[in-house]
Amino acid sequence: MNKNQLKAILIGAGDRGINTYGLYALNNPEDLNFIAVAEPNPDRRASFSEAHKIPEEYQFSDWEEILEKPKFADISFIATQDQMHEGPAIKAMELGYHVLLEKPIATTEEACKHIVETSEREKVVLMIAHELRYAEFFIKIKDIIDSGKIGEIITINHYLNFHFWAYAHGFVRGNWNNRDETTPMILAKACHDFDLICWYAGVQPIKVSSFARGPYLSPENKPEGAPDRCTDGCPHADTCQYNAISIYLNFVQPRRELIFSGNKMLGYFVRLSINHQNILRLLFPPARKHLPYRGWPISVLTDDLSDEGIMKALKEGPYGRCVYACNNNQVAAQVNNIEFENGIVASLTMHGHSTKNNRRIRIDGTKGSLVGNFSEGEMQITVYDQVEGTYEPIKFKFKVELHGGGDLRLLNTLIAAVRGETEAYTKARESVQSHFISLAADRSAREGKVIEIKQK
Ligand SMILES: NC(=O)c1ccc[n+]([C@@H]2O[C@H](COP(=O)([O-])OP(=O)(O)OC[C@H]3O[C@@H](n4cnc5c(N)ncnc54)[C@H](O)[C@@H]3O)[C@@H](O)[C@H]2O)c1
Repeated sequence: MNKNQLKAILIGAGDRGINTYGLYALNNPEDLNFIAVAEPNPDRRASFSEAHKIPEEYQFSDWEEILEKPKFADISFIATQDQMHEGPAIKAMELGYHVLLEKPIATTEEACKHIVETSEREKVVLMIAHELRYAEFFIKIKDIIDSGKIGEIITINHYLNFHFWAYAHGFVRGNWNNRDETTPMILAKACHDFDLICWYAGVQPIKVSSFARGPYLSPENKPEGAPDRCTDGCPHADTCQYNAISIYLNFVQPRRELIFSGNKMLGYFVRLSINHQNILRLLFPPARKHLPYRGWPISVLTDDLSDEGIMKALKEGPYGRCVYACNNNQVAAQVNNIEFENGIVASLTMHGHSTKNNRRIRIDGTKGSLVGNFSEGEMQITVYDQVEGTYEPIKFKFKVELHGGGDLRLLNTLIAAVRGETEAYTKARESVQSHFISLAADRSAREGKVIEIKQK
């Protein structure tokens, strides 16, 4: 065993815990080893423990149990649901753990401040999983700004175009469908984007205003004759893009998105795989493992990923419901404006009805402009130079997995920070600004007022 290997505990072995943090440790054993887990779901706890060879006495069913013990590892990864971040984060830091905390930090301003202040008092590393800051694409934008090429920033305009099927998965049928029991979408989803905007602006936000459109996927828009479940013989099955059987059993919509992506080879392969799964499986035995695809979001439905298991989950669980019958109350779209200390003005539009998943950003400065498109199949930044009268396109390699490489770099940085090898990591006090903006935007949209952000 490498003496530099850090020991970690995982609180919440759900999708992020297993598929991001667990996977990182399995791929980088010289850096990270999970030696304990707290997870109430017995199947997830058992499979995580098996993968990481965690002995039974280090398997816990609740975060309070694992944190009753004195500190016995270097880092605590906290990947419980949004409303369950404050309790374990505070307790872990008070025990002396360094913490990687999932976003959102917490669901109220007070809880966010409490967590940040605790990290500073306890002098531990607290990193928030704002992985986009660590993606090559967004780092490049920051480098261009810092190089002075576009001069001083005047305005930043950002689009968060969230694909319709993933919005339906998370914010209509799934875990985040009720904003009052979880998190308003503007915090859950856009805290990443506000974080980028704050990073680029480089100063503190002072005012926010926002308008929101309520859910379109609601009973008044339900097509006539549609049953409450896609599995109950819906007459609109062939014309509804939200058909759960087509999304989860055949994964048709997400694959189509890749076909549209502009990457010809991948598009060809994806189209073949949709239409001729059995031929491909026969011709290329190694493809059996991957066809049909059973990763996220299908893996969220059930632990039994056979066709029968998925069908059962669709018939009985939340993900088989008609999107117009989910009793959801998250917004369909929200437009937000921010004023920063030095006069920079910024806007962010977020919505869940996009054909493709992408983020678009435009920054206009005193000497030039920068336009960026971060999406499946196309990643490009174009820098326009007003002084020279030229423009420079910068292309990136096709890479979408792990948030454009951001997850990997964030975790490498966390490891280096905990080992004391770098001071250059995003401190929680910086990350919290995006949460103040999100919560102010939510309030502004509900109350119809401009909200001032007070730092203390
Ligand atoms: N950074 C990102 O890009 C990103 C992406 C997706 C999700 N997230 C965030 O990650 C967090 C987890 O999301 P997820 O999709 O993995 O959710 P999930 O529901 O799959 O995982 C949460 C896990 O916590 C477990 N849990 C519940 N009560 C617990 C307790 N008392 N003690 C220990 N564990 C407990 C649940 O059983 C579940 O397995 C959320 O806050 C979410 O917003 C971040």
